[in-house]
Amino acid sequence: MASTIQSLVFTTLLLFISIAPSFAQQSFRPKALVAQVSKDSSTLQYVTRISQRTPLVPLNLVLDLGGQYLWVDCDNNYVSSTYRPARCRSAQCSLARSNGCGDCFSAPRPGCNNNTCGVSPDNTVTGTATSGELAEDVVSIQSTDGKNPGRNVSDSSFIFACAPTFLLQGLASGVSGMAGFGRTRISLPSQFAAAFSFHRKFAICLASNGVVFFGDGPYVLLPGQDVSESLTFTPLFLNPVSTASAFAQGDPSSEYFIGVKSIRVNDKVVPVNTTLLSIDNEGVGGTKISTVNPYTVLESSIYDAVTKAFIDEAATRNITRVGPVAPFDVCFSSENILSTRLGASVPSIDLVLQNENTKWTIFGANSMVEARDGVLCLGFVNGGKNPRTSIVIGGYQLEDILLQFDLATSRLGFTSTLLGRQTTCSNFNFTSN
Ligand SMILES: *[C@@H]1O[C@H](CO)[C@@H](O)[C@H](O)[C@H]1NC(C)=O
Ligand SMILES: *[C@@H]1O[C@H](CO)[C@@H](O)[C@H](O)[C@H]1NC(C)=O
Ligand SMILES: *[C@@H]1O[C@H](CO)[C@@H](O)[C@H](O)[C@H]1NC(C)=O
Ligand SMILES: *[C@@H]1O[C@H](CO)[C@@H](O)[C@H](O)[C@H]1NC(C)=O
Ligand SMILES: *[C@@H]1O[C@H](CO)[C@@H](O)[C@H](O)[C@H]1NC(C)=O
Repeated sequence: MASTIQSLVFTTLLLFISIAPSFAQQSFRPKALVAQVSKDSSTLQYVTRISQRTPLVPLNLVLDLGGQYLWVDCDNNYVSSTYRPARCRSAQCSLARSNGCGDCFSAPRPGCNNNTCGVSPDNTVTGTATSGELAEDVVSIQSTDGKNPGRNVSDSSFIFACAPTFLLQGLASGVSGMAGFGRTRISLPSQFAAAFSFHRKFAICLASNGVVFFGDGPYVLLPGQDVSESLTFTPLFLNPVSTASAFAQGDPSSEYFIGVKSIRVNDKVVPVNTTLLSIDNEGVGGTKISTVNPYTVLESSIYDAVTKAFIDEAATRNITRVGPVAPFDVCFSSENILSTRLGASVPSIDLVLQNENTKWTIFGANSMVEARDGVLCLGFVNGGKNPRTSIVIGGYQLEDILLQFDLATSRLGFTSTLLGRQTTCSNFNFTSN
């Protein structure tokens, strides 16, 4: 009895100690956080901005929706008085699922310390992973009431991975790493939710000048629309096999998968092999959402079926097909294509989800890309035979749509195109109160 009480007291004390650092400096507790996301026009990557270190340094980071955690280049000018490497077998190492433990044979500096655990930071744009030291440092970000940014708040023990400079190859110029928003315990949304005790939810709204929210709504876009009130929900599926470039056996994927059951073009069902639409035991197949693929990628038989249906439907509208413009095969003269509030007036594409009434409809603004003057191409690319994932919904198809990920209930909420409600993802009011 006595020992039970003693161990209870001890556990409570431990809990208190481990929670205390995050709250110590601030009595203000934010309900949600906000950050900008801009699109890099040369790489088509989405770049977000948060601050790290002491003194704080603003960092540009490629937003990686399915990425495992934050990784930054520590080789180049990492200066911080609050950098702490994660010691072997510490709680940080187990949160990161790291079993490795190592030493570093050169002068100590951030990214090179003895008796630390290692992880495998992954450049998911190029599919390159390397080894890196796990560490903690201060991260600062703006709080929000959902309408405007509020005061800045910081998490003094934010876990991330240190990577060598070469891992930045292939990323937008001026970035220092990647910000992983995936389904792990140390992704940005998970750590912020734990540090500030809010809902394990986040939302992304991509555009040339978009926004990301950590925490629950309201998510208000000018002129005063709370778009968190118009979400359609669909379950998120866990892929049991990691999709990372390097991983340990038994690791699940940190990416977000949804259950597309069928595809329609202009309300007509497109014949596809439905086996490809589900995730098999080896983790192959299914549909994921990705911010590192600029355009939706379809397995080749699905690609052929969808593009054929689209071309046939377009033909009934007298839309003239023209030659391909890389990376797109299916292009049209814009001559006979009307433009509407929802973009080019072309056949709509529906991704039908858990039932016939739950569908993600892709209108012209998200399907047609102006590849050259006077030429509009269907913004989908052929993923070849036997890709790991049959459908990868890419960035262009996500723009001006708000997507809310609920990690606690494994549920995705999505709006239809915000252009239909006369707002866009560039309409968050970043002016502080
Ligand atoms: C780690 O330990 C080794 C052996 O004791 C030593 O040579 C090396 O300098 C140390 N590295 C760091 C980064 O402290
Ligand atoms: C708060 O954070 C924003 C964005 O990270 C930054 O631009 C601003 O300078 C910060 N404000 C203060 C008072 O530190
Ligand atoms: C459907 O796809 C599965 C998985 O690739 C394949 O094994 C099967 O042969 C395909 N069925 C047809 C009818 O092509
Ligand atoms: C398509 O073009 C043909 C020939 O130019 C014309 O006869 C027909 O009415 C047009 N159809 C539509 C739907 O515009
Ligand atoms: C943006 O927010 C600021 C601060 O609340 C406010 O003064 C301004 O009017 C808002 N802008 C618009 C266009 O509503």
